[in-house]
Amino acid sequence: MIYLDNAAATPVSKKVIEAMMPYYSELFHNPSAHYSAARNVKVALEDAREDIARQIGARPSEIIFTAGGTESANLAIKGIMDTYPEANCVVSAIEHDAVAKSAQHYECKIAPVDNVGCVDKTA
Ligand SMILES: Cc1ncc(COP(=O)(O)O)c(C=O)c1O
Repeated sequence: MIYLDNAAATPVSKKVIEAMMPYYSELFHNPSAHYSAARNVKVALEDAREDIARQIGARPSEIIFTAGGTESANLAIKGIMDTYPEANCVVSAIEHDAVAKSAQHYECKIAPVDNVGCVDKTA
């Protein structure tokens, strides 16, 4: 089978599964908790945050882990629009509901798309 929908559903890399497996099993502790096992998980989480930041040239404080797409879209849209209410918000006409419904809370323009789904820059 040739599966071409990786934009919306991607198989997790074997390396990621391997790296995460301890945290899905024996190191399952809540990193925000205060007992020692949880503090060890917090250290690993902060190491990961620093590693990702270093790899993309960001500061660790700029790396925010979310649980999924809806949370990420809401964080981005509401974060920007609540911080910069004068910002121009434009979303495409074919956004996932997670984006479209978040954008509905603001005066966002809807950019039309052409017959292959690209934003029509002439509109
Ligand atoms: C662009 C986009 N945003 C948000 C979501 C929703 O993601 P989640 O189920 O992780 O909240 C999806 C899911 O397919 C998506 O493709």
